[in-house]
Amino acid sequence: MAAAGGRHRVIVVGGGLAGLSATLRITEGGLPVDLFSIVPVKRSHSVCAQGGINACNEIARQQGYSEHEHFDETIYGGDFLAHQPPVHEMAHWAPRIIDLLDRMGVPFNRTSEGQRDLRLFGGSLYKRTHFAGATTGQQLLYGFDEQVRRAEAEGKVTKYEHWEFLGPVVEDGRCVGIVAQDLRTMQIRSFRADAVVMATGGCGLVFGKSTNSVMCTGAAASRCYQAGVHYANGEFIQVHPTAIPGADKLRLMSESARGEGGRVWVPRTKGDSRDPRRIPEAERYYFLEERYPKYGNIVPRDIATREIFSICVHDGLGVGGGNMVYLDLTHLGREYLERKLGGIIEIYRKFVGDDPVDTPMKIFPGVHYSMGGLWTTYEAKSDLQGMVYGSPNSMTTNIEGLYAFGEVNYQYHGANRLGANALLSCIFDGLFCGAGVVNYARERTPAIDAASAPYEAAVRTQEARMKALLDADGSENPYAIGKELGEEMTAASTVVKSGPRLEQSLETIASFRERYSRIRLSDTGMWTNQTLAYARAVGDMLVVAEAIVRGGLERRESRGSHYRTDFTERNDEQFLATTVATFDPATGGSKISFEKVETALVEPRKRTYGKVEATSAGKEKAVASPNPS
Ligand code: FUM
Repeated sequence: MAAAGGRHRVIVVGGGLAGLSATLRITEGGLPVDLFSIVPVKRSHSVCAQGGINACNEIARQQGYSEHEHFDETIYGGDFLAHQPPVHEMAHWAPRIIDLLDRMGVPFNRTSEGQRDLRLFGGSLYKRTHFAGATTGQQLLYGFDEQVRRAEAEGKVTKYEHWEFLGPVVEDGRCVGIVAQDLRTMQIRSFRADAVVMATGGCGLVFGKSTNSVMCTGAAASRCYQAGVHYANGEFIQVHPTAIPGADKLRLMSESARGEGGRVWVPRTKGDSRDPRRIPEAERYYFLEERYPKYGNIVPRDIATREIFSICVHDGLGVGGGNMVYLDLTHLGREYLERKLGGIIEIYRKFVGDDPVDTPMKIFPGVHYSMGGLWTTYEAKSDLQGMVYGSPNSMTTNIEGLYAFGEVNYQYHGANRLGANALLSCIFDGLFCGAGVVNYARERTPAIDAASAPYEAAVRTQEARMKALLDADGSENPYAIGKELGEEMTAASTVVKSGPRLEQSLETIASFRERYSRIRLSDTGMWTNQTLAYARAVGDMLVVAEAIVRGGLERRESRGSHYRTDFTERNDEQFLATTVATFDPATGGSKISFEKVETALVEPRKRTYGKVEATSAGKEKAVASPNPS
């Protein structure tokens, strides 16, 4: 088959849903794509997404739901920190994205009438989440993978799997390609492109143990940041309420478990060590249901997480006095659970050894998602109700020609993402904003004609960095630094923060950086050297960590996932604004500024989710609660 025509090409970095949907849209627009992925695309982190993807459909509409409701829930869920035009567009595109996925053959669960089934999910009182059991991300990824393979067979896509992105090539303020390394041969090469799309996901590994896959280091974003791209809202880290604690990593127990009727509880009596199955109903404290009668177990993640944290850490009511609560599915029945939640039931059985069909699961919150990421802009429609389709400004960073899609893009979710909006925002970025990339790239003088000096210089810089790491003869172990960084970030910059603790964290990160300058690699070989790749990533993770902590320090308020004990209220007057971090090459640290959020469509309002105040275990009184909980 003939390759796609023209002399322009686009590079997409990242083989998850954002990267694959962008690849598809760009090739449909007539430009060939070089697709880079650190792992085989079918192993990208999107494969781990479980619960579903949000969109209004005709069935939801009959309940009174609408695209506007989806938009409003997303804005309210994000505590008003998301720019509203992109969210408006995304919510209105969602139904056709689902139709497209259906036509691709994604095996969505269906009702007995043959309709696509819907489930409840966090932050909504409507069933509006489409799902494929509890392996929705995997089914979507495989659907897109098939389409991209078709384009590959037609010569429109060239895949570079097991290649790691090392940095953008920037010439005269414009991104004209990338430098990447083959992680088998360790060869470093530059690649030319007329536009580059970063779709490299989140930075869970900065927090050590998380629900993210182990390649989600945030290093690719950090490399763009160090090249001059702003990093936005870094302090907004989502801690998912329900993960299986693990010695190696945390494993997600999907929010869909609660959407399908799962109940979170602890024994009402401290130290009650009975088998949970023998604890009578009256002696169980369903604290989310009692405190949030309207939303119950499906309050948004930031709220559920703080409540679970507080029940365990402050009230000492956690299971066995520890950091765990029950997530109980036992009343739902085997057939129902296998049909609706089979994927996670299997994970729990495999990693814990108990069967959730007849024993309540033990779970605790775990780092899951970064609302922050590379700063991007967009072109709004004149009435601000959406974005201009095909605009070259669709989710472009402040470096021309360098785009950010999916989790690495800070847009859409504000201060807290609603469950099942991540798959949507990834695919929406690819399909909607990919058209703008095509329009941008077509207008450029083809990079293939550019002088080779900048590409050669970029390769030399990366080769020198690699050589410095291989030659380093200090005594510090990069794995130990990475582990300690994770522990520090989880302790200081997740569920509960304070100014003094964040200040202390900046000092700790500075000490890690000093130790990092004295590392030694245990493997200095030039064949699949994973130690080199990890050690290099640690250096970049330290940079992002500093930006996250500094953003949290400068944001002297509580909003969404960012809760400060020294500023417990939301402060719209000062902080209804995006945190924008700029890398300072002189210090290796960041400078923070704030940028106004576009809130023209929905007026910010108090965010309570109908909370009633807890007086003691099980005795709640109705009050209007202050933000954020
Ligand atoms: O809980 C979940 O199934 C996760 C979904 C998401 O992060 O959107």
